Amino acid sequence: MRTLLVTGGAGFIGSNFVHLAARQNPTDRIIVLDKITYAGNRDNLSGLDVEFVQGDICDGPLVDELVSRSDVVIHFAAESHNDNSLRDPSPFVDTNLVGTFTLLEAIRRHARHLHHISTDEVFGDLPIDSPERFTEETPYRPSSPYSATKAGSDHLVRAWVRSFGVSATISNCSNNYGPYQHIEKFIPRQITNILDGRLPKLYGTGEQVRDWIHVDDHNAAVLQILDHGRMGETYNIGADNDHVNNRQVIELICELMGVEDYEHVADRPGHDQRYAMDSTKLRRELGWAPRYTDTETGMRAGLTQTIAWYREHEQWWRPLKQQVESGYQERGQ
Ligand code: NAD
Ligand code: DAU
Repeated sequence: MRTLLVTGGAGFIGSNFVHLAARQNPTDRIIVLDKITYAGNRDNLSGLDVEFVQGDICDGPLVDELVSRSDVVIHFAAESHNDNSLRDPSPFVDTNLVGTFTLLEAIRRHARHLHHISTDEVFGDLPIDSPERFTEETPYRPSSPYSATKAGSDHLVRAWVRSFGVSATISNCSNNYGPYQHIEKFIPRQITNILDGRLPKLYGTGEQVRDWIHVDDHNAAVLQILDHGRMGETYNIGADNDHVNNRQVIELICELMGVEDYEHVADRPGHDQRYAMDSTKLRRELGWAPRYTDTETGMRAGLTQTIAWYREHEQWWRPLKQQVESGYQERGQ
């Protein structure tokens, strides 16, 4: 029996992870540490037998106490939205850098294991038509304050491994979708726009490519890495969806929801063009494979399930909708 400390476990990917881990390893004890920022929701964990602690990963004494009672820390907590980081980078520096540093120091003191959740955005972007994909060896070239702070947090983890012998693994994953995703993000924003009688909003021409992966496939990979990953290693996670652009995704959502129209809105400054992940290492070493792969069947099935979830959980997203849309409207988006 292990005790897992899950930071950011009331957010999108973290809460889906807690649901999956509780199903897959029912004897594990789970502690969730979450500040409940605008992006966290305690109800995401309702019905689960977890110890929930509301607090900040930058709070040294609190983090120390929780790490001392855990065997493994899975670190999801972050400020995660690029558009917000362009408006105010300051909480990104605090949580993503100072928060990760605070955790690392506690892990070093108590000799525990860390799995650090990171993103493909640390590698920057690729030209739209490039056949290239990011590997674990691709040099870091982040573009936004969000991705720069995530890149910095990865560097901190590697430095603590090398300089202090801390036990850690890192995973860098592509764009997730699925239940419980905050409606500021691309896919749930468009689904809830349609449910709310608004037009879906496409930034610029919509030629940008994101390598979409269902959140359960991401989290299944994290569980594999926790159990079988090699210490100090980094694993890329992706589901080979790097041939669909934002316009095609919005048109697929429209088709699945029976509407035709969407509108083009102001583009994101410094918009990354293309992300594409090579996850060969994870597949070969750990035998992981995504369930929702290839756009035609997998992503269609994943989006259908996600649309149904937002339809059935209007009480979850309704209180957020007006405020999120007003913020976007101020920026012409
Ligand atoms: P999210 O914004 O939905 O959730 C983040 C959670 O962290 C929230 O519950 C929030 O309350 C909590 N949090 C924020 N600051 C905190 C602090 N200082 N102390 C404690 N808790 C705090 O984010 P997400 O989309 O679930 O992303 C989770 C992780 O996965 C992040 O590290 C992100 O960089 C990474 N990631 C996300 C994606 C994606 O597509 N969403 C892809 C790859 C990697
Ligand atoms: O690649 C992994 C990253 O994916 C994670 O690290 C981030 O935490 C996560 O937010 C996500 O970043 P993106 O910026 O790619 O995701 P977002 O959902 O904000 O946007 C996806 C694409 O859709 C992007 O090209 C911008 C575009 N977009 C976004 C919104 C909100 C639109 O066209 N319209 C929109 O309304």
